[in-house]
Amino acid sequence: MIQTLEWTESGVRFIDQTKLPTEESYVVCRTYEQVADAIRNMVVRGAPAIGVAAAMGIAIGVQKSKAANVGELKREFDHICDVIGKTRPTAVNLFWAIRRISEKFERLSVQPIPQIKQALVEEAQRMHAEDIAANQAMGRHGATLMPASGGVLTHCNAGALATCGYGTALGVIRAAVEQGKKIHVYADETRPFLQGSRLTAWELMKDGIPTTVISDNMAGAMMKQKKIGAIVVGADRIAANGDVANKIGTYTVAVLAKEHGIPFYVAAPFSTIDPDTPDGSQIPIEHRDTREVTHIAGKQMAPSGVSVENPAFDVTPAKYVNAIITERGVAREPYTESLRTLAEETMKAGG
Ligand code: MRU
Repeated sequence: MIQTLEWTESGVRFIDQTKLPTEESYVVCRTYEQVADAIRNMVVRGAPAIGVAAAMGIAIGVQKSKAANVGELKREFDHICDVIGKTRPTAVNLFWAIRRISEKFERLSVQPIPQIKQALVEEAQRMHAEDIAANQAMGRHGATLMPASGGVLTHCNAGALATCGYGTALGVIRAAVEQGKKIHVYADETRPFLQGSRLTAWELMKDGIPTTVISDNMAGAMMKQKKIGAIVVGADRIAANGDVANKIGTYTVAVLAKEHGIPFYVAAPFSTIDPDTPDGSQIPIEHRDTREVTHIAGKQMAPSGVSVENPAFDVTPAKYVNAIITERGVAREPYTESLRTLAEETMKAGG
């Protein structure tokens, strides 16, 4: 399995996603500031991977602290969480992870400092393992929705590289392929950062899953030519009503899917579902450096000084989403009820 990120004795080790697909190299972040930079600069990206990276970044910050007492450590902890929390605003997994680690810190605050440090590292490692298990469960639930054969379109990268392993949308595809389904993936290149052509194609080719890269503006034509039997994408934040924030261009794909009668699925762990955000209009959308749009691999592609927009995400209204595949099962419209039921059932079952 691709090691997107892992805790090591020397620090948090990331595969450098800015260098793929031409260079497979790794960076080790030894401070929480370095982890924050890795998230901001998209060395590590994808909502679930960002969440676990944040937890590991906080753990490393606490581990390096020289605080003399727990009160001092707590003040440093709050500052670390603040720095990490300002890296990327849309992926709610970042804030989910900060909350989970903060709650752990609260429960530990009567313990001696060395125990607190150790327990936070263990919590971050537990989150890493849980993420892979959630993706595998999502795969099992979602594989049945995939066609027995034919084209499945995905947008951006919601694969092993966007998680701690296996992937959400690509996890569903992997599980379907493991069940013997003959799937051919169509990967939108995903301008401007090219997660589809650089990352999705790279990791699927490593697994020997047939993959065709298309530029984003080809998706509609592929659907019209009946090359696409289903669409599965990931999510950065799902509002309580099922509206989905995901990589810019997802909305366009979802509208095209509806027009062509193709099922549009979203695969995401519960850590991506934000019950505190009632609908998509409340989801903060990250706007990134306009240079991502005007330049490709350092070469200028637009006239100097031209006006540019670069929203990193868009919101797909729930009405375009045929199902939300989670590790706890598949939710369908109306999502306010189905997502709440899945959450409550698991709580009752002690999950
Ligand atoms: O800007 P990115 O590359 O972090 O955006 C990633 C996406 O939009 C993914 O589709 C989403 O995080 C789901 S990852 C399992």
